[in-house]
Amino acid sequence: MSEPIATGYAGGKIILFGEHAVVHGQPAIAVPLTSIRAEAEIYPGNGEFRIVLPEVQREFRFLRPQEGSENGLIVTARLVLEKLGQPVPDMTISLKSSIPQKSGFGSGAAVSAAIGRALSAALGMPLSDDELNRIVYEVEKMHHGTPSGIDNTVICYEKPIYFVRNQPIEFVTIARPIHLLVANLPHSTPTKVTVSDVRFLYEKHPRRVERIFNRIGHISREARKAIESGDVEALGPMMNENHRLLKRLTVSDDLMDRLCRLALRAGARGAKLSGGGRGGNIIVLIDKPSRGLITDALLKNGADRVFYSVLGGS
Ligand code: MEV
Repeated sequence: MSEPIATGYAGGKIILFGEHAVVHGQPAIAVPLTSIRAEAEIYPGNGEFRIVLPEVQREFRFLRPQEGSENGLIVTARLVLEKLGQPVPDMTISLKSSIPQKSGFGSGAAVSAAIGRALSAALGMPLSDDELNRIVYEVEKMHHGTPSGIDNTVICYEKPIYFVRNQPIEFVTIARPIHLLVANLPHSTPTKVTVSDVRFLYEKHPRRVERIFNRIGHISREARKAIESGDVEALGPMMNENHRLLKRLTVSDDLMDRLCRLALRAGARGAKLSGGGRGGNIIVLIDKPSRGLITDALLKNGADRVFYSVLGGS
């Protein structure tokens, strides 16, 4: 192929604290994961608008608006064109991604953000982070039903955030590096399912579940203080407690609990599930020297892949 007219990237994300409770108004903290990313390249078209996925050999065409309405990639492109007041262009978008799908890394939001960035740049009208975020949120609603908006926000702004639904975004400064292992599990459950199960539990036991949400919100607030003051050690027990509370919300499972336990036994400071739960990924707070031992323990006991990530530079 020739050189692309424009390119757009977006990385993945992980939630450090507050998932699920954030859907019900509590604060949560999320960080971008730039080691994995989605990439959209725009090429001149051959008479129509297409989005091609060379890695899985699939393609989607724009056609008339209603015909693409079910596909999130096409919907993203349509929302971008509507926002910019542009007709459907004669272009091909080639989309690639190294973000594991359905794993709690925000893969859907990242591919939408990459398309939005590339397409708006190709049209000479690059979207601001805020405009892009609004578009990606619309697409997230298609995938996840009632998302809080945290995934699209951290992905579009590519900065650590302290997020409260319907409140202005607050960025978090990481005062000291945080060494994390992110273990990707072989199974996953759609976020839509776990979010709706938690909502059901809340309707059934409002007072008990409200107390859990409040406690998770308290942890997020305390964690923000610890992150911003460089008290990284304090985050370990907070992660463990957040995991126990998520378990009470029924979104953990045997493998996630077991891997968190094993990581702690192998020397981790804290461990918790991250994202929607019942599969996807767990995050483990480590001291750098224990990285190898804990990675081995996770891989030997059921994790598919383990990423090492240092938040806040070194
Ligand atoms: C998913 O990454 C995070 C959840 O809290 C859902 C949401 O906030 O929309 C589980």
